[in-house]
Amino acid sequence: MKKVILITGISSGFGKESAGFLAEAGHTVYGTVRRDYETNKSVNVLRMDLTDTSSISKAVETVILKEGRIDVLINNAGMHSAGPVETLPEEFIKLQADTNFLGMVHLARAVLPHMRKQGGGMIINFSSIGGLMGLPFCAFYSAFKFAIEGFSEALRMEVAQFNIKVILINPGDFNTNNTMARRKFMALTGPDDPYNKQYLGAIAIMEKNELSGKKPVFLARKIVSIVESKNPRQRYIISAFYEKIAVGLKYILPGRFFRWILEKNYKMK
Ligand SMILES: NC(=O)c1ccc[n+]([C@@H]2O[C@H](COP(=O)([O-])OP(=O)(O)OC[C@H]3O[C@@H](n4cnc5c(N)ncnc54)[C@H](OP(=O)(O)O)[C@@H]3O)[C@@H](O)[C@H]2O)c1
Repeated sequence: MKKVILITGISSGFGKESAGFLAEAGHTVYGTVRRDYETNKSVNVLRMDLTDTSSISKAVETVILKEGRIDVLINNAGMHSAGPVETLPEEFIKLQADTNFLGMVHLARAVLPHMRKQGGGMIINFSSIGGLMGLPFCAFYSAFKFAIEGFSEALRMEVAQFNIKVILINPGDFNTNNTMARRKFMALTGPDDPYNKQYLGAIAIMEKNELSGKKPVFLARKIVSIVESKNPRQRYIISAFYEKIAVGLKYILPGRFFRWILEKNYKMK
């Protein structure tokens, strides 16, 4: 059955590729952007900024006005603030919270009454491998991705009675605009900054892994199959094999040993 889909953040990365594939598959796709954007003609473009709640309500109202329903909400848009917990300015923390977590919450709350009335729906929330383990100098990225995990697990139980499915996506390292767009706090970094060496080293390793990661089309194809599945799983970890192993190890290894592995990987020692 063809579905009406609202997906956030289609100007690049997973959002761009997923919106294109979903439209090609015959679904009615509405994708959100923050600025003028040329796209695949079969994708309907809406303006929306996750930090602006009125733009969120407006985007949802527009789809309801035109289609009368929203079958699938894909909460994809996001960004990444990086820096030491001690010195990262408050504005970076707030931007991370508003974009990656509260924006998703507002959208889910705006869409739920419609999904409930229409007798069902699907909400796909983008978490991360960083939502399953804290990563150094990405404390707030990890914190709000962890928040998405708890939010989605709770919401899933509340809305199952209305035939609404809540699905978590945990991408590993992918080569998207996420790397270029990362908000890195650099003001204090210098020889006198006690975090400087570890911070720059850890972020360089992360960015190298992302740039050598798979292209977003790989994940976008999976999104189409999840949207079209009658019985989707609750969670999809879409990553390199070693990242899946890391997720498993976190749950079976003693905490200190797992931390040693992460610290070694990010050259924190
Ligand atoms: N790439 C990875 O390795 C990776 C790994 C794990 C999880 N993820 C998650 O995957 C999702 C998609 O990221 P991506 O890798 O595809 O990155 P991307 O290429 O940077 O795409 C992010 C999208 O989000 C939009 N966006 C950013 N801030 C926004 C805001 N305030 N309001 C509305 N839209 C906003 C961007 O729009 P603009 O063009 O206007 O900035 C862009 O369309 C994110 O939730 C990210 O955390 C990515």
